[in-house]
Amino acid sequence: MDTEADTARDWWRDAVVYQVYPRSFQDTDGDGTGDLPGITRRLDHIDRLGVDALWLSPIYPSPGADLGYDVTDHAAVDPAFGTIDDFDRLLEAAHARGLRVLMDLVPSHTSIEHPWFRAHPERYIWSDDGPANNWRAAFGGPAWSRDPESGRWYLHSFFPEQPDLDWRNPDVAEAIGAVMRFWLARGVDGFRVDAVDRLIKDERLRDDPPATRPFPLYLRPEVAELELRYSGDRPDVGTALTALRHAAGDALLVGEAYVPTARLEAYLEHLDLTFCFELLHAAWNADRLGEVIGAAVESGGCAWILSNHDFPRLASRVGTEGARGAALLLLTLPGPAFLFQGDELGMPNGAEPAAPIDRAGRDPFRTPMPWDSGPGAGFTTGLPWLPLIGDEVGSVADQEADEGSTLALYRRLIRLRRELGRGFQLLDAPEGVLAYERGDHLIAMNVSGERTALPWRGDVVLATGPEPDPLETGAGVVLTTA
Ligand code: NOJ
Repeated sequence: MDTEADTARDWWRDAVVYQVYPRSFQDTDGDGTGDLPGITRRLDHIDRLGVDALWLSPIYPSPGADLGYDVTDHAAVDPAFGTIDDFDRLLEAAHARGLRVLMDLVPSHTSIEHPWFRAHPERYIWSDDGPANNWRAAFGGPAWSRDPESGRWYLHSFFPEQPDLDWRNPDVAEAIGAVMRFWLARGVDGFRVDAVDRLIKDERLRDDPPATRPFPLYLRPEVAELELRYSGDRPDVGTALTALRHAAGDALLVGEAYVPTARLEAYLEHLDLTFCFELLHAAWNADRLGEVIGAAVESGGCAWILSNHDFPRLASRVGTEGARGAALLLLTLPGPAFLFQGDELGMPNGAEPAAPIDRAGRDPFRTPMPWDSGPGAGFTTGLPWLPLIGDEVGSVADQEADEGSTLALYRRLIRLRRELGRGFQLLDAPEGVLAYERGDHLIAMNVSGERTALPWRGDVVLATGPEPDPLETGAGVVLTTA
């Protein structure tokens, strides 16, 4: 039987976590960049959605080569976002509303400007005479760069400004553990852990072999040419994960393991959850979705995710109506769901800025929040760091006033998910329809693009589309069958 203490510790089992991309949430000082006081000011919005927690994308000091994922001090706040006092105020205000807060922990690499890179070169991975192997960096190009100062080559799984830490060196585990304890002592509730599949590489740094079959997750074409066999996702990744678990105690650890669902087991031995990236990248058809969801449910620790700051926005991938169906899916599957800011408005990709900021092309996925139709969309009184979205999507204020809005749908879905039973069963369904049971509720999502008559009967609790008869539907529907 669950004790009260277990329930408190497992608060995340059915949680909805809202991802805040701080740079694009709310600016309060007119510099065009979102900040921590802005998040505190907008907590009402997050709270009214009915979510359980927020995940803050990195707020640490960073030169910005990867906008916060290149950290120079893991235990401080970048002045662009405010101060550590601003952080404490945000944490206190979130907790006062019953909202938990997850930090984004970046343990696999640092910024090349992190003091460790010079003071502790032994914490990184080096090769004396040129690249040690054929590994490729996730954003393209070789995974090795020459350090002009020492003349040696260092490994970087991402941008050259992000040298990889050597997790085979126990000092690294110690140093990152200290960082985790720093944030836990302030009261944070857990961590989303960046790039966990990159923590441990092959000890002998062997070449990755040519790929013989497609990887089920998106990779840049030049990266997809190789099988990621030795450059990450190693069988002994548990040595690093044990250290993270040790430092975290009972706090929530959500791993960003960019691997197929079938490979998640090794991560789930130590972490509470891992994202199900196969769902995010699944072809939008009922068969593939059913297959991916079935396997993820079996894995026992998948956190559902349909979008984040790295990939094209949901509404641009599946269309405006499709995005409403996707919301239904995300929020009625069993287990925790992560929702990226702006998706609750059905926001599509934004415009590319004239001078791109992210060298990996992800600016359009990070467009600032449109709070209202005033100047700066209520996001800033200054010049926004990225172009604002046009009026093709209603602002928060517009959607607040409209019962049929996507925002209203998200709120209804989050309320409704609390009533769904624990069980989960995929059902046989007409072609193009994905359907499953959650206790007394039946959920059907039509992804065929055609109107289809559903064979089930029951009371319609919620429908995502405007159809007069949701059972003769081109959209998604929740029924009670009891
Ligand atoms: C995954 C993060 O989500 C992404 O934004 C970042 O570029 C890489 N990890 C490297 O930290």
